[in-house]
Amino acid sequence: MGTGEIPRMFSRIAGRYDLANRVLSGTLDRSWRRRLVRLAKPRPGERLLDVGTGTGDLLIEFHRREPALSLWGLDLAGGMLAVCREKLHRLQIEAVLVEGDALQMPFASGAFDIVTIAFGLRNLPDRGRGLEEMVERLRPGGRLLVLEFSLPQRRWVRAPYRFYLNEVVPRVGGWLTGDRPAYEYLCRTIQAFPTPQEIVGSLEGAGLRNVLYEALSGGIAWLYRGDL
Ligand SMILES: C[S@@+](CC[C@H](N)C(=O)[O-])C[C@H]1O[C@@H](n2cnc3c(N)ncnc32)[C@H](O)[C@@H]1O
Repeated sequence: MGTGEIPRMFSRIAGRYDLANRVLSGTLDRSWRRRLVRLAKPRPGERLLDVGTGTGDLLIEFHRREPALSLWGLDLAGGMLAVCREKLHRLQIEAVLVEGDALQMPFASGAFDIVTIAFGLRNLPDRGRGLEEMVERLRPGGRLLVLEFSLPQRRWVRAPYRFYLNEVVPRVGGWLTGDRPAYEYLCRTIQAFPTPQEIVGSLEGAGLRNVLYEALSGGIAWLYRGDL
């Protein structure tokens, strides 16, 4: 899928994206984002950039944990940012939202204390380049956090999970959003995504230190943190 098609796809499903997340994950997605926020250890006054921020759920969780953060969100899909803007306005949360590409970020080097990407790394056509761009925006001592799906490593969880991904998610996601291909794309990209160990290697290769990672909900999702 080309870069132009991905933002169009996300803009099409933007209005029902949150609902589909809640239903398909059984609301686990919220606890995963909260775990990311705890691991990021945000401090008052820090500048945080959320890449592929989508409808802004991670920005909202950061604000709940530490209201004195300076929040920035970047996304390529105008439709997702429109939903995000509306939610933040309703919750009276201030953030700078920028429509732009994670592979060519319109921000200065070292501009942020924390950079995050949740369920976005899978969508980048050049993952290595995306990680380099994110690391480049961290100040020395800053931290990068990545939340992403993977396949559970234990075989007895992996087989039923694959069934859920291939048979249930496209049907239910398609029914909720009216866009079954978007959820077929989700399932394809999850299954093609590198192992957590490979992602750790990429984070180290991008220049991060102290890289740690943990499985969430039996390895359906993984959380990574590295320091610059
Ligand atoms: C699966 S959504 C994740 C949204 C949000 N982070 C969350 O936790 O729900 C992936 C987001 O990444 C955005 N995206 C995809 N490719 C991008 C790129 N090259 N640059 C910036 N954003 C991108 C999509 O538009 C979409 O909003």
